[in-house]
Amino acid sequence: MSDEEIQSDGGPAEAISFVYGFPDPDSFPIGDLIAACQTALREKGRTALQYGPTRGYGPLLDYLLAKFQRDEGLTLDRENLLISAGASQALDMICCLFTRPGDTVLVEAPTYHETLMILRDYGLNILQVPLDEKGLLVGELEQRLEWLAATGRRPKFIYVIPDFQNPSGLTLSLERREKLIALAHRYETLIVEDDVYRDLCYEARYAGSTLPSLYALDEGRTVLRLGSFSKIIAAGLRLGWIMAAPQWLNRLMDSGLAAAAGGANPFVSHVVADYCLRGLLEPHIATLVARYRLKRDTMLAALDANMPAEVSWTRPMGGFFVWLTLPPGLAAQEVRTEGEQRGITFLPGPPFFAEGGGENNVRLAFSYLSPQDIEKGVAVLGEVTRKRTNK
Ligand SMILES: Cc1ncc(COP(=O)(O)O)c(C=O)c1O
Repeated sequence: MSDEEIQSDGGPAEAISFVYGFPDPDSFPIGDLIAACQTALREKGRTALQYGPTRGYGPLLDYLLAKFQRDEGLTLDRENLLISAGASQALDMICCLFTRPGDTVLVEAPTYHETLMILRDYGLNILQVPLDEKGLLVGELEQRLEWLAATGRRPKFIYVIPDFQNPSGLTLSLERREKLIALAHRYETLIVEDDVYRDLCYEARYAGSTLPSLYALDEGRTVLRLGSFSKIIAAGLRLGWIMAAPQWLNRLMDSGLAAAAGGANPFVSHVVADYCLRGLLEPHIATLVARYRLKRDTMLAALDANMPAEVSWTRPMGGFFVWLTLPPGLAAQEVRTEGEQRGITFLPGPPFFAEGGGENNVRLAFSYLSPQDIEKGVAVLGEVTRKRTNK
């Protein structure tokens, strides 16, 4: 998110802002990262500060391989991973190397608005497929794929966020995951699976094991899966990974950027590897889950207590966002304008749609604010909305 966007969407400095889908800065493990920086510099300074291997720092790759084996039973090797400077840079690289201006890609409606910005940077023709409470409507996807095939077009990829989606908070059902993969095979297109929220699951019955990723279900044939340390350690690290079959990763590794840059962020990779290999990430994720679960529960309880009956919202099992649907005819922009006069702000739905829609939707991020501010802010949102719906 740019400074400009923070300013233009963040409202007045003192506003309670539901805009930021940022990690909670109070959660950053600063002391442990200072120690990890010192170790990286003292013990490995000569390599940590040098250009690194194109695929990424070996011990970090091996840590990730062990994590996927332990958490998901996925047996991979280094050839299936490439370290990136975050999921956004990975997506940018995929667009750069696998698409040409005018190519078609499919996205969920709504989807992560900054992904739409990246796709637009590459001049792609973006088609949207609606969601319901079980995620992407695969029947609608099939219709669009059929229509594209009939007009001689094959989309380059389908971009999906299966777990705790941004902005809707929804999770794609297992049945639909399977159908989506079958469609990608039938219509010979790739899937880009943006999986940055997987570890932030707040339901005990899912703890440690969300639904299988698209990559796992597909055994890696047509899925490029993006992961990130942004949400589980700190966004400023700019560190993530791409998991894919070697045939796709090799193309990325052969790129000019990968060759010239000497691997994404070698120094930060050393720091994060030291942190993870000390066994600090797993207990840290457990504290994040408790922290964000409390915020999510606070937001849902505040919505239950304050919103008029005509308003509905998602109940996310993880991630950072709740997605509201206002009654038809009540524009989110109108509610925001009055909300800002009363000291709250949020993002209305339209930026999250590639082909229009979302005028009566609201994205509320609960990750960044304190539980107290969530309660206060939702109370104001409830008052403004009730007034506008005459309740
Ligand atoms: C769905 C999704 N993908 C990617 C990102 C950005 O990830 P990174 O910081 O690894 O670039 C975000 C951040 O909000 C996100 O919500």
